[in-house]
Amino acid sequence: MKIAIIGTGNLGLSIAKGILNTNGATSMYLTRKNIESIKQYEKYGNVNVTSDNREAVGKSDILIFAVQPGHFKKILEEVKDLLNDKHVIISTITGFSIERIEEIIGANHYIIRSMPNTAISVGKSMTCICSNELGKKRTELAKAIFNRMGHTMEIPEDQMQAATVICASGIAFWMRLIRATTQGAIQLGFDAKDAQELAMYTCSGAANLLIQSDSHPEKEIDRVTTPKGCTIEGLNEMEHQGLSSSLIRGIVASYDKINQIKKS
Ligand SMILES: NC(=O)c1ccc[n+]([C@@H]2O[C@H](COP(=O)([O-])OP(=O)(O)OC[C@H]3O[C@@H](n4cnc5c(N)ncnc54)[C@H](OP(=O)(O)O)[C@@H]3O)[C@@H](O)[C@H]2O)c1
Repeated sequence: MKIAIIGTGNLGLSIAKGILNTNGATSMYLTRKNIESIKQYEKYGNVNVTSDNREAVGKSDILIFAVQPGHFKKILEEVKDLLNDKHVIISTITGFSIERIEEIIGANHYIIRSMPNTAISVGKSMTCICSNELGKKRTELAKAIFNRMGHTMEIPEDQMQAATVICASGIAFWMRLIRATTQGAIQLGFDAKDAQELAMYTCSGAANLLIQSDSHPEKEIDRVTTPKGCTIEGLNEMEHQGLSSSLIRGIVASYDKINQIKKS
């Protein structure tokens, strides 16, 4: 696969690293305006670093765009005459619809929209993808690329906003839960570093229990709640204080806000 990352900033570089670490490309072009900070990636023999987007597009088949939303239209216009039927266009740009991309480059291209989260930098992103009609023929390819950096799910485009709340904002929600658990552990006598270690590995373990055993949260809860025991005592107190309800309300508030931002 000949892959170009157009806009190798925070996200673009994480994607590049994920591809390089898993030998996922035969050649790679990394572009940004100021290339000094990514020049060192040329030490990988198959990587070219340039500020010339047209060169990168011309020499690659899979184009992953990771620029700021305000720059995307201009860059698409800059390269659109080079696009042909071998190119797969993968956008990571938040809030930029497939319809808008088609308005700029036309609908007769494989167009994929992806929504990774910041865990992509450690190879654990939950990435949602959708595509235009033609792009459906390339979604397996896009999934294969992002599966190198975590887990991927194909969804309809009209669920991208909701997925942004659950998966991108979701990183912040889970961080707050881990922090709260850490604070609880400190109150029980652990020092701050140990408390965070206990909280984050327990969180990771809980998620992996579900992922690897294909289990359900309530089933796992039943396994650790002895009748009249301490776990159910704590859990019920959390629910009396509104744990599930506040999480659900927070998610819905985020979703309302993202929809307002879209309209304004
Ligand atoms: N970060 C995330 O976790 C995340 C998650 C989902 C989606 N996204 C989306 O991903 C996009 C990138 O986010 P980011 O956080 O990675 O932003 P970023 O760090 O600002 O990266 C954007 C990159 O684009 C480069 N760029 C600007 N103009 C360019 C041009 N004409 N040609 C080539 N490259 C150009 C910039 O290079 P210079 O600095 O050299 O100008 C910079 O390296 C955004 O649209 C965001 O909505 C991000």
